[in-house]
Amino acid sequence: MIFNHQIIEKNLGLLSIFILIAISIGGLVEITPLLYQESTTKPLETLRPYTALELEGRDVYIREGCVGCHSQMIRPLRSETERYGHYSVAGESVWEHPFLWGSKRTGPDLARVGQRYSDAWHRLHLMNPRAVVPESNMPGFPWLAENMINEQHTAKKMQVLRQLGVPYTDEDIASAVEQVLNKTELDALVAYLQSLGHALK
Ligand code: HEC
Repeated sequence: MIFNHQIIEKNLGLLSIFILIAISIGGLVEITPLLYQESTTKPLETLRPYTALELEGRDVYIREGCVGCHSQMIRPLRSETERYGHYSVAGESVWEHPFLWGSKRTGPDLARVGQRYSDAWHRLHLMNPRAVVPESNMPGFPWLAENMINEQHTAKKMQVLRQLGVPYTDEDIASAVEQVLNKTELDALVAYLQSLGHALK
């Protein structure tokens, strides 16, 4: 016999190394193409980066744990597309850092909630959901109307995102402070919600 299998099978260390190599190859074959495929890396032509205010709103969304009750990922199933709209595509998410797809739906999916309600509706709803949806079990977030956005970090956040590939221009970054100055967290969160799904309606 040219190749004696027993040597590998009886040596745990060697076996582990070969198993690791085999799994790595399988993993690389699956994962590497995703990093280069146009359909997963190319932004939709209609996609625009978040404005400074929307970006701050997104950070409020992350801090308040909205993602724990709301997904932003519409699956390509009829029951979902009839309720929420076009299913989510990768080209909408290429500038998302981090992704907020979520997996828990205590409340509805929010991937296309933008422009579905007025700003006034969102304000009322976020302050006290029962004011507009009597049977709602979503908590209220009244402090958002009192907290001001800290404008000190907005430009820096945009610079970091630019390093990650989000195409912010120098003007976007220069006007960041002006955009979020004297805005409340509620203003920012509503702006963010209204932007959701803008690239594909
Ligand atoms: C404990 C779970 C829970 C949390 C946390 C939560 N929500 Fe909700 N949300 C719900 C439920 C349930 C509904 C459906 C009833 C309603 O409209 O109030 C809902 C509805 C909504 C809607 C209306 C969606 C539609 O299509 O009608 C929006 C917008 C929304 N939530 C935004 C948020 C935001 C922003 C946050 C974080 C600040 C948040 N929610 C946190 C449970 C939650």
